[in-house]
Amino acid sequence: MSPSSSVPILTIDGPSGSGKGTISRLVAEKLGWRLLDSGALYRAVGYAAGMEGLDLSDAEAVTRCAQTTKIRFQAATDGSDTRVLVNGHDATDELRTETAGAAASAIASIPSVRQALVEMQLGFRKAPGLVADGRDMGTVIFPDAPFKVFLTASAAERAKRRYKQLKEKGLSVTLATLQREIEARDARDASRTVAPLKPAADAVFIDTTGMGIDIVVAKVLAVAQS
Ligand code: DC
Repeated sequence: MSPSSSVPILTIDGPSGSGKGTISRLVAEKLGWRLLDSGALYRAVGYAAGMEGLDLSDAEAVTRCAQTTKIRFQAATDGSDTRVLVNGHDATDELRTETAGAAASAIASIPSVRQALVEMQLGFRKAPGLVADGRDMGTVIFPDAPFKVFLTASAAERAKRRYKQLKEKGLSVTLATLQREIEARDARDASRTVAPLKPAADAVFIDTTGMGIDIVVAKVLAVAQS
């Protein structure tokens, strides 16, 4: 047993727009635990591959890119969002776009790309604990996590949440397009053969449709404190 396996982990998996990002951050703050935003790793690789002009379906080239891209999370000193540095460049804003999400989803279906990111994810398991946000945290990366949650919400509600977030950032999008993109991404993430999006058998399933953030945070905290 490695020393890190005694470090408690709360995995929070679910589809895009299920509120995982916000909930994971708030729960990690409340518990005083570290946070792993695994989606940011896939987004960073998709972004780096795009910058290199790679064909995202070229498994060999994208895998090499995943193995060599330097991804660093840098906590902001002014309380704002953590910055993500990709090969030394602050790509935080670019990584949030729908284009980056779609590129991430595409390269995430390549098994050797997923493999290239495993070690880095395991490295986040450090005392006093870890909240791991993603699609396969409870099923593949941390199957031994003592606390697992699967968050979801209807596609219409998830599209509305994304719409609001993107509008606030001044990005131009339509609700109908977003819902279509969300459904397409769900279908691709859930149907891939490696680490598909699905709840771990031992995860607590929470449908957040119509639920406020505070209530969801309380429900997830209750799982970690159970
Ligand atoms: O959580 P997110 O929207 O930032 O994730 C972007 C994409 O990355 C998502 O559509 C699928 C992929 N992903 C994954 O395959 N496995 C993870 N653990 C996290 C994200």
